[in-house]
Amino acid sequence: MYDYLLGGKDNFAVDRAAAEEGLKANPNAATAPLQNRAFMRRTVRWLAEEAGIRQFLDIGTGLPTSPNVHEVAQSVDPSARIVYVDNDPIVLTHARALLTSAPEGQTAYIDSSLSDVDRVLAGAKENLDLSRPVGLLLFAILHFFEDQADPYGIVRQLLAALPSGSYLVLSHITADYEPERWAGFTAVMRKQGIPTQLRSQAEVARFFDGLELVEPGVVPILRWRPTEAVDLTDAQVALYGGVARKP
Ligand SMILES: C[S@@+](CC[C@H](N)C(=O)[O-])C[C@H]1O[C@@H](n2cnc3c(N)ncnc32)[C@H](O)[C@@H]1O
Repeated sequence: MYDYLLGGKDNFAVDRAAAEEGLKANPNAATAPLQNRAFMRRTVRWLAEEAGIRQFLDIGTGLPTSPNVHEVAQSVDPSARIVYVDNDPIVLTHARALLTSAPEGQTAYIDSSLSDVDRVLAGAKENLDLSRPVGLLLFAILHFFEDQADPYGIVRQLLAALPSGSYLVLSHITADYEPERWAGFTAVMRKQGIPTQLRSQAEVARFFDGLELVEPGVVPILRWRPTEAVDLTDAQVALYGGVARKP
C-alpha cells in the first residue's frame, strides 16, 4: 500500500484496492508517505553535503523507491556506502533494486529485524567502516515498536556501536494533532497484528537523548529545513522528524 501511495510499481492488486479504499476515506492518505520521502531526501543530502557523512545504515528501508538513500548520497559523493535493512520478505525479493550502487561506492542489503541489533551490526560491520561516522536512518519505523519492545534501548545500542560524529535521523507518526483519528489507525494496525505506538513530540525527542540536535530540532517534518513551499498543514502529515549528532 505504501509503495502504491508513493506511485511505485511493486504492489499487488489487493494492495492497490486497499489503498484506493483508504484514499476514498482520506484523500490525504498519500500525503504523509510522500512528505516522509521528501524528508529523507533533505536529511540525507544534508548529512552528505553539510556533515560529510559517507556511510549510511538505513533500517526499515521499505520497498525500493527512487530516488533512494544511495542515489541521494551518491549524487553528492559516488563513493558513499549504504547498508539497507528490512525484515519484510517482499522487500527482500525487491532488494536487487537497492543494490544499484555507483561503481565507486557500495550498497548492501541485510534481511533482519531492527530488534536483532547484533545481526544488524554484524551486517553493518561487514560493509561499513565503523571506526568512521555513520548516518543511522530510521524513517517511519519506530512507531511499529511499542514501548515494551524497548525501541529507546534499541536505538541506544545501535548508537553505542557507532563512533563520535555519527548522526541519528528519524521520522515518526504522531497523534498530537488528531488524537481520535490516529487512535483509530493504531487500533486497525494492532487488529492486523502490527504492533503500533504513536508518540508525542516529547516522546519522539527522547530518542535523541544524549545527542546534539541539529537546528531546528525535533519538528513536524514539513518544518525541517524545507527547500520548497508545500501547501499542507502539519496535521495532514502528522510526522515528527529530527537529526542529531553523536558527540
Ligand atoms: C512505513 S515503511 C517506511 C519505509 C521507508 N523507511 C520510508 O520511510 O519511506 C516501514 C518499513 O519498516 C519495515 N519494518 C517494520 N518493522 C520492522 C522491523 N522490526 N525490522 C526491520 N524492518 C521493519 C517494514 O517492512 C517497512 O518496509
